[in-house]
Amino acid sequence: MLNIRIEKTTAPKAKPTDESQLGFGKIFSDHMALIDWSADEGWHDARIVPFANFSIHPASTCLHYGSEIFEGLKAYRTADGSIQLFRPEENARRMINSSERLCLPQLPEEDFIQIIKELVKLDADWVPHSDGTSLYIRPFLLGNDETLGVHAVHHALFAVICGPVGSYYKEGINPVGIMIEDTDVRAVRGGTGYAKCGGNYAASNRAGEKAEQKGYSQVLWLDGVERKYIEEVGAMNVMFKIAGEVVTPALTGSILPGVTRKSCIELLKSKGYKVSERLLSLDELAAALENGTLEEAWGCGTAAVVSPIGRLAYKDKVFVINEGKIGEVTQMLYDTLTGIQWGKIADPFGWTQKVD
Ligand code: PLP
Ligand code: COI
Repeated sequence: MLNIRIEKTTAPKAKPTDESQLGFGKIFSDHMALIDWSADEGWHDARIVPFANFSIHPASTCLHYGSEIFEGLKAYRTADGSIQLFRPEENARRMINSSERLCLPQLPEEDFIQIIKELVKLDADWVPHSDGTSLYIRPFLLGNDETLGVHAVHHALFAVICGPVGSYYKEGINPVGIMIEDTDVRAVRGGTGYAKCGGNYAASNRAGEKAEQKGYSQVLWLDGVERKYIEEVGAMNVMFKIAGEVVTPALTGSILPGVTRKSCIELLKSKGYKVSERLLSLDELAAALENGTLEEAWGCGTAAVVSPIGRLAYKDKVFVINEGKIGEVTQMLYDTLTGIQWGKIADPFGWTQKVD
Protein backbone atom coordinates (compact mmCIF):
# COMPACT_ATOMS: atom_id res chain seq x y z
CA MET A 1 0.00 0.00 0.00
CA LEU A 2 1.35 3.39 -0.96
CA ASN A 3 1.18 6.25 1.48
CA ILE A 4 -0.03 8.99 -0.87
CA ARG A 5 0.32 12.65 0.08
CA ILE A 6 -2.40 14.80 -1.49
CA GLU A 7 -2.01 18.49 -2.27
CA LYS A 8 -5.18 19.90 -3.77
CA THR A 9 -5.16 22.70 -6.28
CA THR A 10 -6.22 26.13 -5.09
CA ALA A 11 -6.94 27.21 -8.68
CA PRO A 12 -9.26 24.63 -10.32
CA LYS A 13 -9.51 25.05 -14.08
CA ALA A 14 -12.74 25.55 -15.98
CA LYS A 15 -14.03 22.25 -17.37
CA PRO A 16 -14.99 21.96 -21.03
CA THR A 17 -18.62 22.87 -21.53
CA ASP A 18 -19.09 21.31 -24.97
CA GLU A 19 -18.28 17.61 -24.60
CA SER A 20 -18.85 17.01 -28.31
CA GLN A 21 -15.63 18.91 -29.04
CA LEU A 22 -13.28 17.10 -26.67
CA GLY A 23 -11.11 15.33 -29.25
CA PHE A 24 -8.19 13.38 -27.83
CA GLY A 25 -5.40 14.34 -25.45
CA LYS A 26 -5.72 18.11 -25.54
CA ILE A 27 -7.27 18.87 -22.15
CA PHE A 28 -5.84 17.89 -18.76
CA SER A 29 -7.46 17.68 -15.33
CA ASP A 30 -6.49 19.60 -12.19
CA HIS A 31 -4.09 17.09 -10.65
CA MET A 32 -1.35 14.61 -11.48
CA ALA A 33 0.19 11.73 -9.55
CA LEU A 34 3.93 11.29 -9.04
CA ILE A 35 6.16 8.67 -7.43
CA ASP A 36 9.94 8.89 -7.27
CA TRP A 37 12.25 5.93 -7.50
CA SER A 38 15.93 5.55 -6.81
CA ALA A 39 18.14 2.49 -6.64
CA ASP A 40 18.97 3.38 -3.02
CA GLU A 41 15.48 4.19 -1.74
CA GLY A 42 13.18 2.23 -4.06
CA TRP A 43 9.73 3.78 -4.69
CA HIS A 44 9.13 6.78 -2.44
CA ASP A 45 7.26 10.08 -2.04
CA ALA A 46 3.99 9.07 -3.71
CA ARG A 47 1.95 12.22 -4.14
CA ILE A 48 -0.95 13.79 -5.99
CA VAL A 49 -0.31 17.44 -6.70
CA PRO A 50 -1.73 20.23 -8.87
CA PHE A 51 -1.13 19.61 -12.60
CA ALA A 52 1.98 21.59 -13.54
CA ASN A 53 5.10 21.56 -15.70
CA PHE A 54 7.98 19.34 -14.62
CA SER A 55 11.42 20.63 -13.92
CA ILE A 56 14.06 18.12 -14.98
CA HIS A 57 17.82 18.24 -15.31
CA PRO A 58 18.96 18.89 -18.90
CA ALA A 59 21.09 15.73 -18.76
CA SER A 60 18.12 13.53 -17.70
CA THR A 61 18.40 10.09 -19.26
CA CYS A 62 14.92 10.20 -20.79
CA LEU A 63 15.78 13.31 -22.81
CA HIS A 64 18.84 11.76 -24.44
CA TYR A 65 18.42 8.00 -24.56
CA GLY A 66 14.66 7.46 -24.68
CA SER A 67 14.27 5.81 -21.27
CA GLU A 68 10.53 6.26 -21.25
CA ILE A 69 7.52 3.97 -21.18
CA PHE A 70 3.83 4.73 -20.90
CA GLU A 71 0.36 3.24 -20.60
CA GLY A 72 -3.12 4.27 -21.66
CA LEU A 73 -6.42 3.41 -19.99
CA LYS A 74 -9.74 5.08 -19.38
CA ALA A 75 -12.21 5.85 -16.58
CA TYR A 76 -15.85 5.66 -17.63
CA ARG A 77 -18.90 7.28 -16.07
CA THR A 78 -21.76 4.80 -15.79
CA ALA A 79 -25.48 5.54 -15.98
CA ASP A 80 -25.79 5.66 -12.16
CA GLY A 81 -23.02 8.29 -12.00
CA SER A 82 -20.35 5.96 -10.62
CA ILE A 83 -16.91 5.75 -12.23
CA GLN A 84 -15.15 2.59 -13.35
CA LEU A 85 -11.86 1.46 -14.86
CA PHE A 86 -11.47 -1.26 -17.48
CA ARG A 87 -8.93 -4.01 -16.70
CA PRO A 88 -6.35 -1.67 -15.06
CA GLU A 89 -4.39 -4.71 -13.85
CA GLU A 90 -3.60 -5.49 -17.49
CA ASN A 91 -2.03 -2.06 -17.96
CA ALA A 92 -0.13 -2.44 -14.68
CA ARG A 93 1.30 -5.79 -15.83
CA ARG A 94 2.19 -4.50 -19.28
CA MET A 95 4.01 -1.56 -17.70
CA ILE A 96 6.03 -4.02 -15.61
CA ASN A 97 6.97 -5.89 -18.81
CA SER A 98 7.88 -2.63 -20.54
CA SER A 99 10.00 -1.66 -17.50
CA GLU A 100 11.79 -4.96 -17.64
CA ARG A 101 12.64 -4.44 -21.33
CA LEU A 102 13.87 -0.86 -20.88
CA CYS A 103 15.69 -1.49 -17.56
CA LEU A 104 13.38 0.86 -15.69
CA PRO A 105 12.09 0.10 -12.19
CA GLN A 106 8.96 -2.03 -11.88
CA LEU A 107 6.02 -0.44 -10.09
CA PRO A 108 3.96 -3.11 -8.29
CA GLU A 109 0.53 -3.75 -9.82
CA GLU A 110 -1.37 -2.79 -6.65
CA ASP A 111 0.48 0.54 -6.34
CA PHE A 112 -0.24 1.36 -10.00
CA ILE A 113 -3.95 0.73 -9.48
CA GLN A 114 -4.10 2.46 -6.07
CA ILE A 115 -2.59 5.75 -7.21
CA ILE A 116 -4.69 5.84 -10.39
CA LYS A 117 -7.88 5.28 -8.40
CA GLU A 118 -6.88 8.05 -5.95
CA LEU A 119 -6.20 10.47 -8.80
CA VAL A 120 -9.47 9.67 -10.57
CA LYS A 121 -11.39 10.04 -7.29
CA LEU A 122 -9.88 13.46 -6.70
CA ASP A 123 -10.56 14.56 -10.29
CA ALA A 124 -13.91 12.74 -10.52
CA ASP A 125 -15.63 15.88 -11.81
CA TRP A 126 -13.37 15.69 -14.87
CA VAL A 127 -14.89 12.38 -15.99
CA PRO A 128 -17.23 13.56 -18.76
CA HIS A 129 -20.90 12.62 -18.96
CA SER A 130 -21.78 12.46 -22.67
CA ASP A 131 -22.11 9.24 -24.64
CA GLY A 132 -18.78 8.01 -25.99
CA THR A 133 -16.65 10.23 -23.75
CA SER A 134 -14.30 9.15 -20.98
CA LEU A 135 -11.35 10.24 -18.88
CA TYR A 136 -8.17 9.11 -20.62
CA ILE A 137 -5.45 8.18 -18.13
CA ARG A 138 -1.82 8.34 -19.17
CA PRO A 139 0.64 6.75 -16.70
CA PHE A 140 4.29 7.08 -17.72
CA LEU A 141 7.69 6.35 -16.33
CA LEU A 142 10.91 8.08 -17.20
CA GLY A 143 14.54 7.60 -16.30
CA ASN A 144 16.03 10.77 -14.85
CA ASP A 145 19.63 10.18 -13.88
CA GLU A 146 21.50 13.45 -14.13
CA THR A 147 24.43 12.15 -16.18
CA LEU A 148 25.16 11.43 -19.82
CA GLY A 149 26.49 7.91 -19.28
CA VAL A 150 24.50 5.18 -21.03
CA HIS A 151 23.33 2.55 -18.54
CA ALA A 152 20.28 1.26 -16.66
CA VAL A 153 18.91 4.17 -14.65
CA HIS A 154 19.33 4.75 -10.91
CA HIS A 155 16.64 7.41 -10.68
CA ALA A 156 13.18 7.41 -12.21
CA LEU A 157 9.87 9.21 -12.00
CA PHE A 158 6.45 7.60 -12.40
CA ALA A 159 3.67 10.02 -13.28
CA VAL A 160 -0.01 9.90 -14.15
CA ILE A 161 -1.88 12.64 -15.99
CA CYS A 162 -5.45 12.46 -17.24
CA GLY A 163 -8.07 14.39 -19.13
CA PRO A 164 -11.50 14.11 -20.75
CA VAL A 165 -11.60 12.68 -24.28
CA GLY A 166 -14.06 11.98 -27.05
CA SER A 167 -13.29 9.82 -30.05
CA TYR A 168 -9.70 9.28 -31.14
CA TYR A 169 -10.43 9.48 -34.86
CA LYS A 170 -12.42 12.30 -36.36
CA GLU A 171 -14.38 9.53 -38.13
CA GLY A 172 -15.67 8.20 -34.75
CA ILE A 173 -17.10 4.73 -35.37
CA ASN A 174 -17.15 5.30 -39.16
CA PRO A 175 -14.65 3.23 -41.15
CA VAL A 176 -11.13 4.64 -41.43
CA GLY A 177 -8.59 4.36 -44.24
CA ILE A 178 -5.27 2.68 -43.38
CA MET A 179 -2.03 2.67 -45.39
CA ILE A 180 0.20 -0.40 -45.40
CA GLU A 181 3.75 0.88 -44.93
CA ASP A 182 6.28 -0.66 -47.34
CA THR A 183 9.47 1.21 -46.40
CA ASP A 184 9.84 1.95 -42.69
CA VAL A 185 9.40 -0.74 -40.05
CA ARG A 186 8.19 -0.24 -36.50
CA ALA A 187 9.82 -3.10 -34.65
CA VAL A 188 11.68 -6.36 -34.93
CA ARG A 189 11.75 -9.43 -32.73
CA GLY A 190 14.22 -8.90 -29.94
CA GLY A 191 13.60 -5.16 -30.12
CA THR A 192 11.08 -3.15 -28.14
CA GLY A 193 7.88 -3.77 -30.15
CA TYR A 194 6.05 -5.47 -27.30
CA ALA A 195 6.94 -2.70 -24.87
CA LYS A 196 4.98 0.52 -24.77
CA CYS A 197 7.96 2.83 -25.02
CA GLY A 198 8.07 6.30 -26.47
CA GLY A 199 10.82 5.37 -28.93
CA ASN A 200 8.51 3.02 -30.84
CA TYR A 201 6.21 5.93 -31.55
CA ALA A 202 9.01 8.34 -32.46
CA ALA A 203 10.22 5.80 -35.03
CA SER A 204 6.68 5.50 -36.41
CA ASN A 205 6.12 9.17 -37.07
CA ARG A 206 7.68 9.38 -40.52
CA ALA A 207 5.38 6.72 -41.95
CA GLY A 208 2.43 8.17 -40.02
CA GLU A 209 3.03 11.57 -41.62
CA LYS A 210 3.22 10.00 -45.08
CA ALA A 211 -0.08 8.17 -44.47
CA GLU A 212 -1.78 11.36 -43.29
CA GLN A 213 -0.56 13.31 -46.29
CA LYS A 214 -2.11 10.67 -48.51
CA GLY A 215 -5.41 10.92 -46.65
CA TYR A 216 -5.13 7.85 -44.41
CA SER A 217 -5.69 7.80 -40.66
CA GLN A 218 -2.84 5.48 -39.71
CA VAL A 219 -0.20 3.05 -40.86
CA LEU A 220 -0.49 -0.74 -40.92
CA TRP A 221 2.95 -2.17 -40.14
CA LEU A 222 4.49 -5.22 -41.72
CA ASP A 223 7.05 -7.40 -39.93
CA GLY A 224 10.51 -5.87 -39.81
CA VAL A 225 12.43 -8.77 -41.35
CA GLU A 226 10.53 -10.11 -44.35
CA ARG A 227 8.02 -7.24 -44.70
CA LYS A 228 5.56 -9.93 -45.46
CA TYR A 229 3.42 -10.41 -42.37
CA ILE A 230 0.79 -8.08 -40.94
CA GLU A 231 1.69 -6.74 -37.48
CA GLU A 232 -0.45 -3.89 -36.13
CA VAL A 233 -1.66 -0.35 -36.75
CA GLY A 234 -0.01 2.79 -35.30
CA ALA A 235 -2.12 2.86 -32.14
CA MET A 236 -4.24 -0.29 -32.47
CA ASN A 237 -4.02 -4.01 -32.96
CA VAL A 238 -5.76 -5.40 -36.04
CA MET A 239 -8.24 -8.17 -36.69
CA PHE A 240 -9.68 -9.55 -39.92
CA LYS A 241 -12.68 -11.75 -40.54
CA ILE A 242 -11.70 -14.12 -43.33
CA ALA A 243 -14.19 -16.76 -44.49
CA GLY A 244 -16.01 -16.67 -41.16
CA GLU A 245 -12.90 -16.91 -38.99
CA VAL A 246 -11.41 -14.02 -37.02
CA VAL A 247 -7.67 -13.82 -37.62
CA THR A 248 -5.28 -11.57 -35.71
CA PRO A 249 -1.48 -11.49 -35.82
CA ALA A 250 0.12 -13.61 -33.11
CA LEU A 251 2.11 -11.89 -30.35
CA THR A 252 5.55 -12.66 -31.71
CA GLY A 253 7.44 -10.02 -29.70
CA SER A 254 7.27 -7.13 -32.14
CA ILE A 255 3.58 -6.30 -31.53
CA LEU A 256 2.05 -4.52 -28.57
CA PRO A 257 -0.11 -6.98 -26.58
CA GLY A 258 -3.22 -4.82 -26.46
CA VAL A 259 -5.75 -5.00 -23.65
CA THR A 260 -8.52 -4.38 -26.18
CA ARG A 261 -7.11 -7.13 -28.41
CA LYS A 262 -7.17 -9.58 -25.50
CA SER A 263 -10.71 -8.50 -24.57
CA CYS A 264 -11.96 -8.88 -28.16
CA ILE A 265 -10.48 -12.38 -28.38
CA GLU A 266 -12.06 -13.41 -25.07
CA LEU A 267 -15.38 -11.90 -26.05
CA LEU A 268 -15.40 -13.52 -29.50
CA LYS A 269 -14.51 -16.94 -28.08
CA SER A 270 -17.23 -16.63 -25.43
CA LYS A 271 -19.73 -16.06 -28.25
CA GLY A 272 -18.54 -19.12 -30.14
CA TYR A 273 -16.51 -17.42 -32.89
CA LYS A 274 -13.44 -19.15 -34.19
CA VAL A 275 -10.42 -16.94 -33.46
CA SER A 276 -6.97 -17.65 -34.69
CA GLU A 277 -3.79 -15.87 -33.47
CA ARG A 278 -1.25 -16.62 -36.13
CA LEU A 279 1.01 -15.23 -38.81
CA LEU A 280 -1.04 -13.51 -41.48
CA SER A 281 0.77 -12.58 -44.66
CA LEU A 282 0.00 -9.67 -46.89
CA ASP A 283 -0.33 -12.15 -49.76
CA GLU A 284 -3.02 -14.09 -47.88
CA LEU A 285 -4.84 -10.87 -47.13
CA ALA A 286 -4.63 -9.71 -50.74
CA ALA A 287 -5.93 -13.10 -51.93
CA ALA A 288 -8.84 -12.89 -49.47
CA LEU A 289 -9.62 -9.39 -50.72
CA GLU A 290 -9.55 -10.53 -54.30
CA ASN A 291 -11.64 -13.67 -53.85
CA GLY A 292 -14.15 -11.91 -51.61
CA THR A 293 -13.49 -13.86 -48.39
CA LEU A 294 -12.19 -10.84 -46.47
CA GLU A 295 -15.44 -9.93 -44.78
CA GLU A 296 -14.40 -7.39 -42.19
CA ALA A 297 -11.33 -5.63 -40.84
CA TRP A 298 -11.00 -3.52 -37.70
CA GLY A 299 -8.48 -2.04 -35.36
CA CYS A 300 -8.79 -2.21 -31.59
CA GLY A 301 -7.18 -0.15 -28.86
CA THR A 302 -8.03 1.83 -25.75
CA ALA A 303 -8.07 5.22 -27.40
CA ALA A 304 -9.96 4.16 -30.53
CA VAL A 305 -11.97 1.25 -28.96
CA VAL A 306 -13.00 -0.72 -32.06
CA SER A 307 -12.50 1.04 -35.36
CA PRO A 308 -13.68 -0.46 -38.66
CA ILE A 309 -11.20 -0.34 -41.53
CA GLY A 310 -12.99 0.62 -44.74
CA ARG A 311 -9.99 1.15 -47.03
CA LEU A 312 -6.56 -0.47 -47.10
CA ALA A 313 -3.88 1.00 -49.35
CA TYR A 314 -0.72 -0.80 -50.42
CA LYS A 315 1.69 0.92 -52.81
CA ASP A 316 -0.62 2.26 -55.53
CA LYS A 317 -3.49 -0.14 -54.89
CA VAL A 318 -6.50 0.69 -52.72
CA PHE A 319 -8.72 -2.10 -51.43
CA VAL A 320 -12.21 -1.41 -50.19
CA ILE A 321 -13.40 -3.70 -47.39
CA ASN A 322 -17.06 -4.57 -46.82
CA GLU A 323 -18.06 -1.77 -49.20
CA GLY A 324 -16.51 0.71 -46.77
CA LYS A 325 -19.18 -0.07 -44.18
CA ILE A 326 -18.94 -1.30 -40.58
CA GLY A 327 -19.37 -5.09 -40.42
CA GLU A 328 -21.53 -7.17 -38.13
CA VAL A 329 -18.74 -8.54 -35.91
CA THR A 330 -17.04 -5.15 -35.68
CA GLN A 331 -20.33 -3.59 -34.58
CA MET A 332 -20.97 -6.38 -32.05
CA LEU A 333 -17.49 -5.93 -30.53
CA TYR A 334 -17.92 -2.17 -30.36
CA ASP A 335 -21.36 -2.41 -28.78
CA THR A 336 -20.38 -5.08 -26.26
CA LEU A 337 -17.07 -3.54 -25.20
CA THR A 338 -18.43 -0.03 -24.90
CA GLY A 339 -21.55 -1.44 -23.22
CA ILE A 340 -19.41 -3.07 -20.52
CA GLN A 341 -17.09 -0.07 -20.22
CA TRP A 342 -19.89 2.44 -19.74
CA GLY A 343 -21.83 0.03 -17.49
CA LYS A 344 -24.78 -0.21 -19.90
CA ILE A 345 -24.68 -3.99 -20.02
CA ALA A 346 -23.60 -6.65 -17.52
CA ASP A 347 -19.88 -7.42 -17.18
CA PRO A 348 -19.81 -11.23 -17.01
CA PHE A 349 -15.99 -11.24 -17.26
CA GLY A 350 -15.30 -9.08 -14.17
CA TRP A 351 -13.34 -6.61 -16.29
CA THR A 352 -14.50 -3.39 -14.64
CA GLN A 353 -13.39 -1.96 -11.30
CA LYS A 354 -15.25 0.81 -9.50
CA VAL A 355 -13.14 3.77 -8.48
CA ASP A 356 -14.86 4.50 -5.15
N1 PLP B 1 -0.75 -1.22 -30.64
C1 PLP B 1 -0.19 -0.01 -30.42
C2 PLP B 1 1.06 0.32 -31.16
C3 PLP B 1 -0.77 0.88 -29.50
O1 PLP B 1 -0.22 2.07 -29.27
C4 PLP B 1 -1.96 0.50 -28.85
C5 PLP B 1 -2.59 1.43 -27.92
O2 PLP B 1 -2.31 1.47 -26.79
C6 PLP B 1 -2.50 -0.76 -29.09
C7 PLP B 1 -1.87 -1.59 -30.01
C8 PLP B 1 -3.72 -1.23 -28.38
O3 PLP B 1 -3.47 -1.52 -27.02
P1 PLP B 1 -4.58 -1.37 -25.92
O4 PLP B 1 -5.74 -2.13 -26.38
O5 PLP B 1 -3.97 -1.94 -24.68
O6 PLP B 1 -4.87 0.08 -25.78
C1 COI C 1 -4.00 4.06 -26.39
O1 COI C 1 -4.85 3.51 -27.09
O2 COI C 1 -4.10 4.17 -25.17
C2 COI C 1 -2.79 4.61 -26.95
O3 COI C 1 -1.84 4.72 -26.26
C3 COI C 1 -2.78 5.05 -28.32
C4 COI C 1 -1.91 6.22 -28.51
C5 COI C 1 -2.49 7.53 -28.46
C6 COI C 1 -0.50 6.04 -28.64
